[in-house]
Amino acid sequence: MDKIDKKYIIAIDGFAATGKSFLAKELAKRLNILYIDTGAMYRALGYFFVSNNISLTDENIEKYLDTLDIKLEYVNLEVKVYLNNEDITDKIRTEEVSMAASDVSKNKNVRQRLVKMQREMAGKESVVLEGRDTTSVVFPNADLKIYLVASPDVRALRRQKDLEKKGQILSIEEIKASLQKRDLQDSTRKESPLIKVEDAIEVDTTNLSKSETVEFVINLLKERVTL
Ligand code: DC
Repeated sequence: MDKIDKKYIIAIDGFAATGKSFLAKELAKRLNILYIDTGAMYRALGYFFVSNNISLTDENIEKYLDTLDIKLEYVNLEVKVYLNNEDITDKIRTEEVSMAASDVSKNKNVRQRLVKMQREMAGKESVVLEGRDTTSVVFPNADLKIYLVASPDVRALRRQKDLEKKGQILSIEEIKASLQKRDLQDSTRKESPLIKVEDAIEVDTTNLSKSETVEFVINLLKERVTL
């Protein structure tokens, strides 16, 4: 395989709480490349509907979509999310907003708009993106495509810890049910469902430490691009 030594693209897809964000951020840090958290953009839209008590019907989405301006800003690789210039970063990581993001992400116009933004953001730089359709739709020609998986128990525990840090206490059963519901919706929707594309490499993080996961992926990358 010919290695490339210019811009390269790493795309990471997988269900929630499989470790995508950690891996993407760590790669961005180690490789000094741009990081795009595509889920944060769907969360911003979901948050709008939740916080304004507007039901997530296609009709309402079409009505408001043009009025919603999303911006991502990166401060030390932590993504800051703005909706119509309001900083909503601390408000989009609840289970309620997770589900609303999944609901809003079923809409075709929403997807077209956000995919366009994601491609524009990537521009001409090397980039690592994470989400549900980055390997299949946003950058089907990415240089390295990763499909992350982990066992339901490990995912639920990870999510519980993340939520705890933000002061949200949920039982493992509640989290498992919520993850399961979102998994099903994200992988069975009509528009760009989460799939493992043929040339994606499946990485199971159930029994891998964070550093083992990062090392493994960097080694895969080294086979493909000149770092
Ligand atoms: O990665 P996340 O948990 O922050 O994503 C929240 C929801 O957004 C997810 O359940 C489905 C949707 N999403 C999507 O449809 N496509 C993406 N590329 C990223 C997220």
